[in-house]
Amino acid sequence: MGWYDADIDRVIITEEELRGKTAELAKQVAADYASVDGLLLVCVLKGAVMFMADFSRELGKIGGPPVELEFMAVSSYGQGTTSSGVVRILKDLDRDIAGKHVIVVEDIVDSGLTLSWLLKYLESRSAKSVDVVALFRKPEAIKVPVPVKYVGFDIPTEFVVGYGLDYSERYREVPYVGILKPEVYQR
Ligand code: PRP
Ligand code: MN
Ligand code: MG
Repeated sequence: MGWYDADIDRVIITEEELRGKTAELAKQVAADYASVDGLLLVCVLKGAVMFMADFSRELGKIGGPPVELEFMAVSSYGQGTTSSGVVRILKDLDRDIAGKHVIVVEDIVDSGLTLSWLLKYLESRSAKSVDVVALFRKPEAIKVPVPVKYVGFDIPTEFVVGYGLDYSERYREVPYVGILKPEVYQR
């Protein structure tokens, strides 16, 4: 039992389902990128950190191409529960990505604003190809159309936390994905 269990209204995705889907996504990516000599995974901090760790290891285990791990931090949410649409770079790439096959590793596509901005940015840095793997998507919340090649779960437009997803920087360590009780964010 975690401290957070009492704050969760209901679990929508279990640890086992997260593991299964991660393996499925890794399988698809490994098949599609079987002929490349390397893949650069760009994790979008902080939300995607759990998924990056599990996805990259799964890709390795099932015979995917060698990967390099890069991390970017951009923020559009701040403290609240809704997207402001203003994207700031908090941490840039450490190296040049020109000529590389890049996959953006995201936890969730909500309005699409973060990703839409990020894709333009990575293309402007001359990546050879850019695809996106996102573990979650809220189809009803989309404000800008954004091409996400690999999607794990479509989820309802409710305030979900866990497996990297936070509310006010908390609940990222929750091992499952759950819907937060309204009294928690109405406090
Ligand atoms: C969240 C989430 C995605 C983004 C999706 O990140 O991890 O990166 O918002 O929202 P959008 O599609 O509406 O742009 P956040 O900005 O909260 O930062 P965090 O990953 O550090 O929590
Ligand atoms: Mn994020
Ligand atoms: Mg957040």
